[in-house]
Amino acid sequence: MGMENRYVTIKDNIAAGMPTESSFELRSSRATPLAIEGGSLGSQQDVLVKNLYLSVDPYQLNRMKKFSSSQKSAGFASRVLPGQAIDAFGVGRVVASNNGEFKEGDVVAGLLGWEEYTVVKSGGNMLTKVDLTCGFPLSYHASILGPSGLTAYAGFYDVCKPKMGEKVFVSAASGSVGSLVGQYAKLSGCYVVGCSGTKEKVDLLTQKLGFDDAFNYKEEPDLKSALQRHFPDGIDIYFDNVGGKMLEAAIANMNIFGRVAACGAISEYTGESAPAAPDVLDVIYKRITIRGFLAYDHLHCQAEFMSTTSEYLRDGKIRVLEHISQGLESIPSAFLGLFRGDNVGKTLIRVSD
Ligand SMILES: NC(=O)c1ccc[n+]([C@@H]2O[C@H](COP(=O)([O-])OP(=O)(O)OC[C@H]3O[C@@H](n4cnc5c(N)ncnc54)[C@H](OP(=O)(O)O)[C@@H]3O)[C@@H](O)[C@H]2O)c1
Repeated sequence: MGMENRYVTIKDNIAAGMPTESSFELRSSRATPLAIEGGSLGSQQDVLVKNLYLSVDPYQLNRMKKFSSSQKSAGFASRVLPGQAIDAFGVGRVVASNNGEFKEGDVVAGLLGWEEYTVVKSGGNMLTKVDLTCGFPLSYHASILGPSGLTAYAGFYDVCKPKMGEKVFVSAASGSVGSLVGQYAKLSGCYVVGCSGTKEKVDLLTQKLGFDDAFNYKEEPDLKSALQRHFPDGIDIYFDNVGGKMLEAAIANMNIFGRVAACGAISEYTGESAPAAPDVLDVIYKRITIRGFLAYDHLHCQAEFMSTTSEYLRDGKIRVLEHISQGLESIPSAFLGLFRGDNVGKTLIRVSD
């Protein structure tokens, strides 16, 4: 017998500009062949997961458009069709399983969806069991110990290859990825400056997260001069979360052999700001490396990332910032909040207890 599964979807593909809450709808489906009672499932090896925490991420906007160059890069970035359930990383509890690797009651993390229940197909969705013996809150497995944490860790260590004493600039520094990059950089002996969109966020960076300095980019009429002021000796590493004018300004202030980790370009996702047009002569003559990366290319760092970050957490050397909304209904507003800068740290939805 099928059961009701509520999920969030888009009414139509998102055109240029900022979407609104009315671009989304909550639907329910009985089509999924779920039969929880009795623990049986439709297909062999399927696992039925009740979702507990779901991740809300900026890249999903590019998936919701009719076209984005990102859509062909990887399965998880593929286009979302109107009415379709939207897959997203999360943490959940197994409620039925035909797969010997997972049993009822296991807590798992992987690609789930903006829905109450997800059926994970055999071998799919990078489903792993959460090690509950570590004692961290469950939400951590969708935030600092999930893809956002890996993005920050691999992007900083594997892509930027930092050396002690280097000068690091991080944009969207109070967000999920940025707040961790800045903290890893400080733990590695770098000089770190972050930018954020409010005074409260700027204060958080310097007073709570240990950044050496920070500024509110919205109050800077000239980003190139702002960076020159904060980095009189130039930038060695720029961890770019925003693209656009900030990337141009950072390139203008990079040192010779500087490295840019092109992690994201959130300022360009809504189409309201022009794409970055950095000075290519600067890139050439300063021999700057600009390297785009996806966290999923760096799974070889996963074990090291988990053990190092868990140790930092146990030793109280790293702070976790989470922005948690309650209930599936809150997904549209939390998602749009990423583009308004509502969040501090990782945006998560608590779907169920
Ligand atoms: N390459 C990868 O594998 C990978 C993985 C995860 C995320 N990403 C990318 O990394 C970036 C950060 O993602 P996240 O999940 O950590 O999000 P986040 O930083 O937690 O949230 C987004 C933040 O971006 C800032 N922002 C929004 N619009 C902006 C604009 N027009 N200009 C400048 N800043 C703006 C806002 O903070 P303010 O108050 O500072 O404006 C907002 O809080 C995104 O670009 C995302 O696509 C890449």
